[in-house]
Amino acid sequence: MQVLGIESSCDETGIAIYDSEEGLLAHNLHSQIDLHKEYGGVVPELASRDHVRRLLPLIKKTLNEAQSDLKSLDAIAYTAGPGLMGALLVGTAMGRSLAYSLSIPAIGVHHMEAHLLAPMLEEDVPEYPFLALLVSGGHTQIVHVTKPGDYKILGESVDDAAGEAFDKTAKLLGLSYPGGPALSALAEKGDSKRFLFPRPMTNRPGLDFSFSGLKTFALNTVNSESDDEQTRADIARAFVDAVVDTFIIKCRRAIKETELKELVVAGGVSANKQLREGLNGLMGEVNGKVYFPRAEFCTDNGAMIAYAGYLRLKAGETQSLNFQAKPRWPLDELAPS
Ligand code: KG4
Ligand code: ZN
Repeated sequence: MQVLGIESSCDETGIAIYDSEEGLLAHNLHSQIDLHKEYGGVVPELASRDHVRRLLPLIKKTLNEAQSDLKSLDAIAYTAGPGLMGALLVGTAMGRSLAYSLSIPAIGVHHMEAHLLAPMLEEDVPEYPFLALLVSGGHTQIVHVTKPGDYKILGESVDDAAGEAFDKTAKLLGLSYPGGPALSALAEKGDSKRFLFPRPMTNRPGLDFSFSGLKTFALNTVNSESDDEQTRADIARAFVDAVVDTFIIKCRRAIKETELKELVVAGGVSANKQLREGLNGLMGEVNGKVYFPRAEFCTDNGAMIAYAGYLRLKAGETQSLNFQAKPRWPLDELAPS
């Protein structure tokens, strides 16, 4: 079975072809970072228009690289939500009409479920059940994963998502959008001992997060200190240390509560070097194991959509032709596949 995956929920157009026998055949990505950079964030209308321009050429390119063609496809998987409505509608319309014209099924994929399943595209995969820490630009969640589609959210951010906190803090340190990777690089040059940022919501029970206060803490520190490169690096370091420590504390708690020893970490922030080191250390300590997607599948991509769609199709799931894009779509509303 060959499944074409289409990702267009935000500022990346991703296309991939997943084969049930051979695995991932080809994948391509067009990032809109340059398009949105001058505005300091994603401009939804520009994002939608660019997806319209990029989708078809990218589908053709990916089919060529996979040495496949439209007639060889058995299904189309597209991101149906959550995300920007206009951007989602472009991928949804393309996915549905392509499937209709080829008389094959189309399946609307949940973007965060796809992130969660991205580590399954690697050689070494976890066994169900496991814990998942989802850390993207829009979501921060700890999830109890019983099997594909069976998700219980144990904790989530009550305000900013982790990626959002990275981007906002990067912006106030003068780094350009999306600042996550640049902030992480700047933190490498910083001194851990100079500033101490709080570890939000760690001294009360539960697994929820709050990251909006960290950005304010960073802003206050910026305003009260001299504006030099080393100070910026030290502030970046204090911010990253606080985020990583908070995740370690909450993951340790989730492991204790659930007695699960395998942890999947996915979404854009799972590319973060310091977070990977921190969680590797934690899982070593508890005799557990942590699984990450390869770097390019941490952030948005078509491969995870093709794979998530493939799993649902393999389970015999079908959707009616009028399935709609859902800008808001809670992960735990999904039915087990
Ligand atoms: O998963 P993703 O590509 O899109 C969403 O579904 O939101 O995540 C994008 C987010 C951005 O906030 C970006 O700054 C962050 O992931 N990010 C990082 C790193 N790479 C991407 N944050 C910290 N360190 C990184 N290396
Ligand atoms: Zn994403």
